[in-house]
Amino acid sequence: MSRSQITVAVEQPYEVAVGPDLLADLDQFVPEGTKRLMILFDPVVAGPIPALVDELRGDGFEVHLLAVPSGEEAKRINVAQAAWQRLGEAAFTRTDGIVGIGGGSTTDLAGFVAATWLRGVPVIQAPTTLLGMVDAAIGGKTAINTDEGKNLVGVFHQPTAVLCDQNVLQSLPVEEMVSGMAEIIKAGLVADPGILDVIWSGPQETLNPASPLLTELIRRAVAVKADVVAEDPVDAGRRAILNYGHTFGHAIEQVEGFRWRHGDAVAVGMVFAAEVAVRADLMDPSLLGLHRELLSAVGLPISYSSGRWERLWPAMRRDKKNQGKTRRLVLLEDVAKPLVVRDVPEELLREAYQAVSAVPGAAPYPVRAAADYSLENPYGTPVYVPPLDDDAPSTSSGEEALT
Ligand SMILES: NC(=O)c1ccc[n+]([C@@H]2O[C@H](COP(=O)([O-])OP(=O)(O)OC[C@H]3O[C@@H](n4cnc5c(N)ncnc54)[C@H](O)[C@@H]3O)[C@@H](O)[C@H]2O)c1
Repeated sequence: MSRSQITVAVEQPYEVAVGPDLLADLDQFVPEGTKRLMILFDPVVAGPIPALVDELRGDGFEVHLLAVPSGEEAKRINVAQAAWQRLGEAAFTRTDGIVGIGGGSTTDLAGFVAATWLRGVPVIQAPTTLLGMVDAAIGGKTAINTDEGKNLVGVFHQPTAVLCDQNVLQSLPVEEMVSGMAEIIKAGLVADPGILDVIWSGPQETLNPASPLLTELIRRAVAVKADVVAEDPVDAGRRAILNYGHTFGHAIEQVEGFRWRHGDAVAVGMVFAAEVAVRADLMDPSLLGLHRELLSAVGLPISYSSGRWERLWPAMRRDKKNQGKTRRLVLLEDVAKPLVVRDVPEELLREAYQAVSAVPGAAPYPVRAAADYSLENPYGTPVYVPPLDDDAPSTSSGEEALT
C-alpha cells in the first residue's frame, strides 16, 4: 500500500493523507507551534492509542485523552460539555489542538468542540470508518444532535489535516465497509467515472481494507469531495451534488427509525434518483442498469419495501436541500453530469418509488441491531417522522439541518 495526499484548497488549505500507518506519523501533521493536544476517541478504536500517545509524548507533546461514546451517542451536548470542561481544566489556548479518532460521529463531535472552544482551535481528524474517510471528516461541516433532530447545531470549521489510515479499517465490520462504499460510488457517479472502473476491476476486493484498489478508491473519492468543497466551502451551491441519492435515502432512514445504515439508504436513493431521471427523459436507461449492477456488486441494497410512500413522501418534502416550498432533487444526465432539478411532480416520484420497490427477488435488507444503534431516532420524532396519515406542510424547522 502506498501513501498519497490530496490538498483541500480552501482559505487555509489542508492535506488529506491516505494510506497505511498514518496514525504513527500524526506528529508530522500537527500545526507549527501546537504543543498540546486533546485526543477525543471512540473506545472501539482504542487499540493504536497507547502507542500513539507514547510517540507524541516522546516528541515533546503534552497529550490529554478523552474517550467519547461510540457512534451517534457522541454527538450529544453533554459529551461536548464534558470536552469543554476538560479543555478548561487543562487551560487549552488557541494554539493547542484537538484530534478526533473514530467514525463520522466522533469526527463531527471533535470538529464541533474544536470550532466552539475559544471560537476555534485546530483539529486534526483521523477517521476510522470508510464513510468518515471519504465524507464526514473532510469539508469542515461539524454538528451535534439535539432532542429536536440530528445535526441541528453546528458550524463550519475546516480541519488542519485529515489522516485516513487504512490500517484502522481492519477491525471495521464488513457491513460498515459496504455502507461506506455507497459514498464512494456516489462520488464516481457524480464526478469521477474512474472510480466506477476501479470497482468493476474487483468489486469484492475493494472491500478488503488492505487492498491497493481500496487505497485508490479512497484517494479518488477524497479528491472529488476536496474539489467540491474547495469550490463551495459553506454549502451554498455546487456541494449539493454530493447529496445525490440522499433525498430518498434520508427518507428511508427516517421511516426506518435509523436502523438502516446511511450508505445503504443512499444506495437505494441513488437507484431511486436514476429511476426519476429515466422517467424524466434525462438519463439513458442503461445508466440505471449500471447503478443497479455496481451497487449490487459490492453488496449494497437496490430496493426498498413497498407500501410506504405515504410515510416517505412527507419525509422527502422536508429534505434539507429544499428551499422554502421549492423541492430540490439531484439527478444525473450522465456519469459526472449531475444537475439539481426543482419540483419534480409527486406522481413521477411515486412511480420511481414503485419501480424501486418492485425489484424481483429482493430479500429484506439486514439492518443495524437496536443494540448497535442506541438512538432510536436521532433526527427527533416531532420534526421528521410523521404519522402514517400526516399531511404535514412542506417546510419545518427540520429543513435547516446542517449535514
Ligand atoms: N460532517 C459531515 O460532512 C458528515 C458527512 C457524512 C456523515 N456525517 C456524520 O457521520 C456519522 C456517521 O458516521 P459513521 O458511519 O462513520 O458512524 P459512526 O462514527 O457512528 O461509526 C459507526 C460504527 O462503527 C464503529 N467503528 C468506528 N470505527 C471502527 C473501526 N475502525 N473498527 C470497528 N468499529 C468501528 C463505531 O463505534 C460505530 O459503532 C453521522 O453522525 C453523520 O451525521 C457527517
